[in-house]
Amino acid sequence: MQTLMLTVKSNERLNHDTFSLVLEGDNLTFSAPGQFVNVDIPGLYLRRPISVCQSTDTTVRLVFKVVGKGTALMAGYKQGDVVDVLSPLGNGFDVNAEGKKALLVGGGVGTPPLLGLAEELLKKGKEVKAVLGFNTASDIILEKDFRSLLGEGNVTVTTMDGSAGKKGLVTDALEECDVLYSCGPLPMMKAVAQKVKCKCYFSLESRMGCGFGACMGCSIQTANGAKRVCKDGPVFDGEVLIW
Ligand SMILES: Cc1cc2nc3c(=O)[nH]c(=O)nc-3n(C[C@H](O)[C@H](O)[C@H](O)COP(=O)(O)OP(=O)(O)OC[C@H]3O[C@@H](n4cnc5c(N)ncnc54)[C@H](O)[C@@H]3O)c2cc1C
Ligand code: FES
Repeated sequence: MQTLMLTVKSNERLNHDTFSLVLEGDNLTFSAPGQFVNVDIPGLYLRRPISVCQSTDTTVRLVFKVVGKGTALMAGYKQGDVVDVLSPLGNGFDVNAEGKKALLVGGGVGTPPLLGLAEELLKKGKEVKAVLGFNTASDIILEKDFRSLLGEGNVTVTTMDGSAGKKGLVTDALEECDVLYSCGPLPMMKAVAQKVKCKCYFSLESRMGCGFGACMGCSIQTANGAKRVCKDGPVFDGEVLIW
């Protein structure tokens, strides 16, 4: 983990409340998709954790939803602004899990890290499908990115109100797979865990203090004892999670 001073390459609005921020700089190395960075926002005491959506050796793309003061300030970042981030953080998804067929299940602003995961799974020769769930059509993000990467027929979008895609929950659109990777609201992931029998990995969210394992502020109870979401996670094997 290191502190990096990155420069804003672009900051685009994806929908009414969600932005795609691309930062560039040196020493951007991530060991697995699903890792996150912790963004320092001048004037705010705590950094804000955001998952890596996609990355290259010199860029990192963060897709975030404006929910409060920090993310509202991030929405105002302009090309050329310098941003202080702690990176890389967390464990990320295991792309070497056994089995050929991978199913990615994302909910809302939990979908961004699954895009980088999809890229890595394809490189490993896996067959990848995605089910992406949103409340309503205007909340949909990254649909085109997933479709152009995985192919039209391998992506299912669901909306709760039926305003786009298939009406209903992601659990109404799950497909058979060897390994399932999920990121999204806790109730969604719990419902997924209850419905499937295959190997599952879930990326959790928690309010964070330090973001790198020092404060214990993000601890959760698992079948293997207390674990820190920031350091031992955010990705956990479904078998150890206590829903
Ligand atoms: C590992 C990790 C990865 C994340 N990745 C993303 C991402 O890729 N894109 C994205 O949009 N968001 C992501 N988040 C959530 C993001 O960190 C919070 O939305 C952000 O910190 C809110 O800051 P704020 O100052 O705008 O809101 P605040 O003013 O701090 O809070 C506004 C509201 O959001 C809720 N909230 C704030 N932080 C969290 C949190 N960590 N978990 C759950 N609820 C929270 C608060 O309870 C409050 O209701 C991630 C969180 C974690 C822990
Ligand atoms: S946020 Fe400090 S230990 Fe996880």
